[in-house]
Amino acid sequence: MPTVDLSPLRAQFPALALSDAGHPAIYFDGPGGTQVPQRVIDAMSGYLVHSNANTHGPFRTSQETVAVLAAAHQGMADFLNAPSPNEIAFGPNMTTLTFQLSRAIGRLLRPGDEIVITRLDHDANRAPWLALQEQGVLVREVDFNPRDCTLLIEGAARSAGQALGDLLGPRTRLVAVGFASNAVGTINPVRQIAEMAHAVGAWLWVDAVHYAPHGPIDVQELGCDFLVCSPYKFFGPHAGVLWARYPLLEEIRAYKVRPAGDLPPDKFETGTQSHEAQAGVLAAIEYLAELGEKYGSEYAAQFPGFQGRRLALKQAMATIQEYERPLFAAFVAGLSAIPGLRLYGIADPARFNQRTPTAAFRLAHRSPDEVAEHLARRGVYVWAGNFYAVSVTEQLDLETSGGVVRAGLVHYNTPEEVAYCLACLEELA
Ligand SMILES: Cc1ncc(COP(=O)(O)O)c(C=O)c1O
Repeated sequence: MPTVDLSPLRAQFPALALSDAGHPAIYFDGPGGTQVPQRVIDAMSGYLVHSNANTHGPFRTSQETVAVLAAAHQGMADFLNAPSPNEIAFGPNMTTLTFQLSRAIGRLLRPGDEIVITRLDHDANRAPWLALQEQGVLVREVDFNPRDCTLLIEGAARSAGQALGDLLGPRTRLVAVGFASNAVGTINPVRQIAEMAHAVGAWLWVDAVHYAPHGPIDVQELGCDFLVCSPYKFFGPHAGVLWARYPLLEEIRAYKVRPAGDLPPDKFETGTQSHEAQAGVLAAIEYLAELGEKYGSEYAAQFPGFQGRRLALKQAMATIQEYERPLFAAFVAGLSAIPGLRLYGIADPARFNQRTPTAAFRLAHRSPDEVAEHLARRGVYVWAGNFYAVSVTEQLDLETSGGVVRAGLVHYNTPEEVAYCLACLEELA
């Protein structure tokens, strides 16, 4: 069980105090979207009451709006350790940003150019690249090992399928990979993949949506070229964020209207953004920074060269990792003891540093929907299906039989909630 006690933080999340038909609400639906602390709600309503306007007017509300947006860009730059806030572009969500950028990147590609995607990814990191086939781009797909749901990385002589190393070549222009799988939790070796992509002159696009609430992200250390994430998965409001290296944002011609700014990030922030969401994202970043300052100072040495809010955010995510791992180990130990339960993905606790605390499982003689509905009646919120990671459930041959049950933990979940969820599952088994 976790050694660090983060339970005092729960009081900051009003939704965690709700109950459902007499049962306390238990949110194991984090991989689909997390709850928000009160300060996020206050920042959004405060913005709408006091500063609501469009940008670049001469009056107070407009000037305050510009300041809020600038602060939100800086907040995300700090979260990702991006060199500059001008490398951060907001959008409605990750999917829309990825389609927008894939279309713009497509302008630089020629027929016969190649893109590598993976079968472990959410469809939002597949469909935008597959769409470029319409203009003659070849899309190649990396397989994963169905036993532990890890990507095949090294090339040559792996009988289980196509490995990344086999698919890279002189025509590869871009590799698109998830930081972690939203279906089965596998964390991919992004640094290694970046080196392999760069060795053939390709760019690396990273979907960090599922990973972001679970561990530190440092775009400079990862060596990626683009990274997308969604603040509603890490305690903020519904929004999407793109980071890319500044010279790439300069080079790629955006689909934009003429009066919009020509420089990054403006050229990629199409139309009017959700200003209130950006106010909320900033508050979520501040919440995490405070968590890091209060609980995570012992991790400072792991992040040499970091200072101020950037250090606090790294400490926060290291603390969250430290809290989540034993909680998840207890959850998996309980799941493994349930008769007829089959867990997908990495199941060996010694390798839990290679996965997020997101459990995908099936219960014998019960459809995933039945399991999710049984838990919902007891106040435990989990998802059933494919969660848009449809190529994962297809490869595991589960797509036509309802996919899997997905129960994901985040740092506001507790050992008591885990025990209660396990008891509800045992009842059904
Ligand atoms: C791994 C992953 N990638 C992409 C997405 C899509 O994100 P968005 O809802 O911001 O478009 C999700 C959403 O569940 C996800 O889990």
